[in-house]
Amino acid sequence: MIEDIKNYLEEVKEFTSQKVEDIEQFRVKYLGKKGILNDLFLKFKEVPNEEKKELGQQINNLKQAVNQKLEILKETLKDQNTSEAESDLTRPGISLNLGSRHPVNIVKNRIINIFKKIGFSVVDGPEIEDDWHNFTALNMSEYHPARDMQDTFFIEKDPDMVLRTHTSSVQIRYMEQNTPPIRILSPGRVYRNEDISARSHCMFHQIEGLYIDTHVSFADLKQTLQYFTSELFGKSEIRMRPSYFPFTEPSAEVDVYWGLETETDYRITKGTGWLEILGCGMVDPNVLKNAGIDSEKYSGFAFGMGIERIVMLMYQIGDIRMFTENDIRVLQQFSNEF
Ligand code: PHE
Repeated sequence: MIEDIKNYLEEVKEFTSQKVEDIEQFRVKYLGKKGILNDLFLKFKEVPNEEKKELGQQINNLKQAVNQKLEILKETLKDQNTSEAESDLTRPGISLNLGSRHPVNIVKNRIINIFKKIGFSVVDGPEIEDDWHNFTALNMSEYHPARDMQDTFFIEKDPDMVLRTHTSSVQIRYMEQNTPPIRILSPGRVYRNEDISARSHCMFHQIEGLYIDTHVSFADLKQTLQYFTSELFGKSEIRMRPSYFPFTEPSAEVDVYWGLETETDYRITKGTGWLEILGCGMVDPNVLKNAGIDSEKYSGFAFGMGIERIVMLMYQIGDIRMFTENDIRVLQQFSNEF
């Protein structure tokens, strides 16, 4: 029997073919139900125990050799097939799945481009921020009640560090390093300790703007926002409702007149025709001072908005969680947008 196995091994080693049928025949001959290996296993049961060890090893060697040979032959077959296919120029091409931009990025880029046209540039800052840049410099001292407006994630190991609750922190950083005139946008992720639901999330994106120069007035702010809403939504009727932010004075909430033409308009504006889109105001002189800017000489305005909110309005997306679920069926719908 050992002799037989040696012969089989020899045969396996020598065997080669490029034909599918031959290879299949070879496989059946060795590995088939009535093939050589099964036959050997049956015989193996009958040999006396002291011969079993060596015989078992030999049979396994053979089995391994057969399997290896089959692998190699299959690989060469595959190569052969692809090179034949490559020479067939009439074959349809391989379609590539192209990615698409995320809707949050699409709208973020649009907003950036609108403000770029009037001289704003984009600046970046850290998402893990110190207390000074996220709160204190923005006129929210340690026990300021306004800190409660933004539920905060704190860093356990360092009580001075937080996940930034807004990108206003980037504006402080920029003002500390630069002198007016300043025209910047700070887009980015922000974090708030809120329950996740259809309308709120603990992580979302903001884009904030800051303009500091001599003689900047509230009228400049209004004009800039009108320009912005007409570029983004094609709607330039806005209203500014008095509001409160610690870092701006006066402060306002801005609504855009969306209209009441369709049923959807009624639904999303709750029957009023108006939609709230952002917060803004004239930068509080204290904030300028904190960032090292002469508040006697310079004034400025700031505004900030949540990008997801705007995307939800523009595309009628009813649930903020869709932005992070990354369901390809949702994302694919934006493949033609930039
Ligand atoms: N930082 C504010 C927020 O996160 C938005 C804002 C920015 C308001 C600038 C006024 C001026 O809610």
